[in-house]
Amino acid sequence: MNFEIPSYLDKNNIGPYEIYLEQVERVTPYLGKLAYWVETLKRPKRILVVDVPIHLDDGSVAHFEGYRVQHNTSRGPAKGGVRYHQDVTLSEVMALSAWMTIKNAVVGLPYGGGKGGIRVDPRKLSMGELERLTRRYTTEIGIIIGPDKDIPAPDVNTNPQVMAWMMDTYSMNEGKTATGVVTGKPIALGGSLGRNDATGRGVFVAGARAMQKLGIALEGARVTVQGFGNVGNAAARIFHDHGAKVIAIQDITGTIYSEAGINPYEALAFLKEHSTLKGMPGTESIEPSSFWDIECEVLIPAALEKQITEENADRIKTRVIVEGANGPTIPVADDILSAKGVLVVPDVLANAGGVTVSYFEWVQDFSSYFWTEDEINARLDRIMREAFDSLWDVKERHNVTLRTAAYIVACARVLEARALRGLYP
Ligand SMILES: NC(=O)c1ccc[n+]([C@@H]2O[C@H](COP(=O)([O-])OP(=O)(O)OC[C@H]3O[C@@H](n4cnc5c(N)ncnc54)[C@H](O)[C@@H]3O)[C@@H](O)[C@H]2O)c1
Repeated sequence: MNFEIPSYLDKNNIGPYEIYLEQVERVTPYLGKLAYWVETLKRPKRILVVDVPIHLDDGSVAHFEGYRVQHNTSRGPAKGGVRYHQDVTLSEVMALSAWMTIKNAVVGLPYGGGKGGIRVDPRKLSMGELERLTRRYTTEIGIIIGPDKDIPAPDVNTNPQVMAWMMDTYSMNEGKTATGVVTGKPIALGGSLGRNDATGRGVFVAGARAMQKLGIALEGARVTVQGFGNVGNAAARIFHDHGAKVIAIQDITGTIYSEAGINPYEALAFLKEHSTLKGMPGTESIEPSSFWDIECEVLIPAALEKQITEENADRIKTRVIVEGANGPTIPVADDILSAKGVLVVPDVLANAGGVTVSYFEWVQDFSSYFWTEDEINARLDRIMREAFDSLWDVKERHNVTLRTAAYIVACARVLEARALRGLYP
């Protein structure tokens, strides 16, 4: 690799950031004169590692490791979520922050990329402990975040309540209410309508556009969905609402299949009542690994990273994969799918609906004027469609995958901003 690994990463096991570095290397030949600046994409602008000490309910003190990484701010303030997970590493937060730089540039939002995390299993904390953890972490990273500097949002294991605490803590330290410091807030605190379904909605808009390009009708199209949480559930409902047939749903509780189609609203109600998808009337429970063998027109991985690998890529019988999750397809599987003629709509485009409505939330907070859900959905749909079309043009022009096209477009946009700004001093 044409990059000197920084001392704060393990040279023998770089972790997820290595995947990002490889992606940048892949597109460098397409960047023309802008390649002069490409090193700036390989190095995060700023990394803050913090100690987060809190009193536990039993009277003892616990320390947690926290991070905030601002990968790039050439196009605007850093923007990206905060993840609470016991296995979070600096390399992972660096990679996630870099992917936010790419995603924000793909959909043309005036942001750079950032991400944060705390190494903690939040299920082991009481509500009080979680609040103290969030408030101390916010204070520690408060020196670099702000509505015009870096705007956190929810990610794995963080939610609107955590965002409310972050907003309040930052505001208390500033001595004034600053709703625009985080997005994904509750509606009562300057959150945006439409945020809940935004990612799933974006998955639908990008997926439907891809189907249109391939001449696949939405009506009756067979859709399979892995992950039935915020993203998978909304995507399944919206595809169903537009006449597609959801024939398989997989989550951590089981995998259900029905050739005649599954009503996702009923599946959600069943899941809520029984805490499992297994046994839903009119469906057949199948082995989780068989999910990948189901013939369909659209497959939506919306659960975890690294789900489509060299083990199952060959078995997949679909026309389009729309990546709701971040990083569900590993690079070697990408090559297998591309050789088979499967169109992959990459995560940096497909799941950008969430950050797009986060952007709307931030804009609404600044003007303290709130839009209707219809206005939000119409603006989201337009941004997703335009982003898809500009990537499609690049894909056709260079004869590359849609993922490579996304990186070409995004890296060029970030580096053009870098070149115009120049180096300070
Ligand atoms: N929520 C957003 O706005 C958003 C935005 C962009 C990207 N994403 C990405 O989308 C993915 C899903 O996020 P979410 O917010 O829907 O999470 P979530 O926690 O709401 O849902 C996750 C779903 O995945 C399922 N799942 C977990 N492990 C599984 C396994 N081993 N096999 C099958 N299913 C499994 C869970 O049962 C659940 O249904 C993540 O990669 C996330 O980073 C989310």
